[in-house]
Amino acid sequence: MLEISIKNIKMKNPLMLASGILDLTKSSMERIKDAGAIVTKSIGIHARKGYENPTFFDAGVGILNAMGLPNPGIDEYIKEIDGIKVDVLIGSIFGEDDKEFGYLAKKIAPYINAIEMNMSCPHAKKFGMEYPTNEIDNAVKEAKKSKKPVFVKLGMENLIERAEKAVDGGADAIVAINTIKAMAIDIDVAMPVLSNKIGGYSGKAIKPIGVRCVYELASNFDLPIIGVGGITNARDVIEYMMAGATAVQIGTGIYYEGEGIFTKIKDELKKWLNKNGYDSIKDIIGLALKK
Ligand SMILES: Cc1cc2nc3c(=O)[nH]c(=O)nc-3n(C[C@H](O)[C@H](O)[C@H](O)COP(=O)(O)O)c2cc1C
Repeated sequence: MLEISIKNIKMKNPLMLASGILDLTKSSMERIKDAGAIVTKSIGIHARKGYENPTFFDAGVGILNAMGLPNPGIDEYIKEIDGIKVDVLIGSIFGEDDKEFGYLAKKIAPYINAIEMNMSCPHAKKFGMEYPTNEIDNAVKEAKKSKKPVFVKLGMENLIERAEKAVDGGADAIVAINTIKAMAIDIDVAMPVLSNKIGGYSGKAIKPIGVRCVYELASNFDLPIIGVGGITNARDVIEYMMAGATAVQIGTGIYYEGEGIFTKIKDELKKWLNKNGYDSIKDIIGLALKK
């Protein structure tokens, strides 16, 4: 009832662990048994320490973070994921140019089912959202040489223009959205809360923006869309899927609801589908696009 597939990848349900949350170690990823897929932390060529603390702030209606893409580098990370026991593993990578993306994709390919190119981190110099739009197609082409399906993760900024380039390069799916560039000031000391000053905003508050982005992508392109941003319950998942998402990712929801969120949502989804007379979750994909 909850099975979906993207390219040749079959998932037992449409719920994926979003990149950056509980996904630096094999054991934390293996604990999330009820997710249809796990996305790794974004990994680069070299180890990065990330920014100094504070890197995380609960802004009340959402979360601000500027971790600075901390990761052990590709060589150490593939040792970590070697032999991992999860149903579907998506390898998230970030690079400075098409050569780096090609190199990382080839290195991680033997360990994963698909690649997710992070082209949307809002607070890392030269990477993520700063990756030039007119070079996205070449980077995707390089990653595709790994022979794995390639998903491209984009933010809300210049979304359609960047998605067009990803599609031109041969992307197999678009993932949207990443966190949104934002900041908070500590008025008692008159300075930004985060050490990096600017961070990315996630959680419940960004859900309507994510849903709008998915709807626009699904209206403009004929490829699977994976929706991310602010999901904490089954109704949120249904909303994203009716807007055109084939699958969804959950990150900050774990901060609000704990690791059991995947089990909880999976059960709620089944109940909702039964109650509303749907045999398969696939039947709700894009329903709101038709009205
Ligand atoms: C602490 C933290 C770290 C993150 N790290 C990454 C990352 O390494 N790569 C990436 O593509 N997205 C990263 N993200 C973004 C999430 O994958 C997701 O796109 C975003 O948080 C919106 O979804 P959410 O509201 O469910 O968290 C991170 C988010 C958070 C909160």
